[in-house]
Amino acid sequence: MTQEIRIYPQADIMQSAAIAFLTGEVLRSVAARGRCSLVLSGGSTPEPVYAGLGDPSVAKNIPWESVHFFWGDERHVPPDHPESNYRMVRDTLLARVSIPEENVHRVPAEMDPRMAAFRYEEDLRSFYPGDWPRFDIVLLGIGTDGHTASLFPHTAGLQEEQRWFIANQVSALDAWRLTLSKNAINAARLTLVLAAGEAKSDAVATALEGPHQPEITPIQLISPEDGRMLWFLDQRAAAELKKGRG
Ligand code: 6PG
Repeated sequence: MTQEIRIYPQADIMQSAAIAFLTGEVLRSVAARGRCSLVLSGGSTPEPVYAGLGDPSVAKNIPWESVHFFWGDERHVPPDHPESNYRMVRDTLLARVSIPEENVHRVPAEMDPRMAAFRYEEDLRSFYPGDWPRFDIVLLGIGTDGHTASLFPHTAGLQEEQRWFIANQVSALDAWRLTLSKNAINAARLTLVLAAGEAKSDAVATALEGPHQPEITPIQLISPEDGRMLWFLDQRAAAELKKGRG
């Protein structure tokens, strides 16, 4: 696994760079394999990136009919709920580009969490028959507690070895979350972590330079087997990294 850190002066510049980078990677995947599987993250950091991909000046360059959207995690809420990651992507991107309905693989988060996870894994397995899903691009964020996707500290989901997609009970949130497992993420070709703001600086430094304690800092579980991992950071999120990183 190769790990690369790119640091940008401020968040909007990092997000613009992510838009350009993702556009290139989508085109590369489609050229190489006829399609691109893009796994989206929730949260606020990627929102401007999704909005940028939906901007006509960018969207016109992307063969949306060859792009398949998946979610790396979802909250246990209906698709129209304000906290829904699907709703956020629908409003910032899907509603603005012409993408075939069958290319949008929404997590059925309105149902019982365990049933939702089972159904979504069935969808993933029909798209990727094999031992693990080989997603072309997985977008991730990082929480101030070092979580990524919905792999939160001290949750049972961190121990999952067989399943691709799981229901994870997060007592810190008093909520169920739905998430790719660490192994499903690690099977990807390319993983991109986006982080911005001073609030993330401690989690980023701990993840990249701290002791290996994934129970406490779950994003340390993400180490692609045979893929690239890139961190797109603004200077504030990178502030506690050793000098010269990135
Ligand atoms: C979610 C995300 C989650 C997110 C981090 C960072 O569903 O919220 O998948 O893992 O990436 O919590 O969120 P922000 O970008 O809002 O800081």
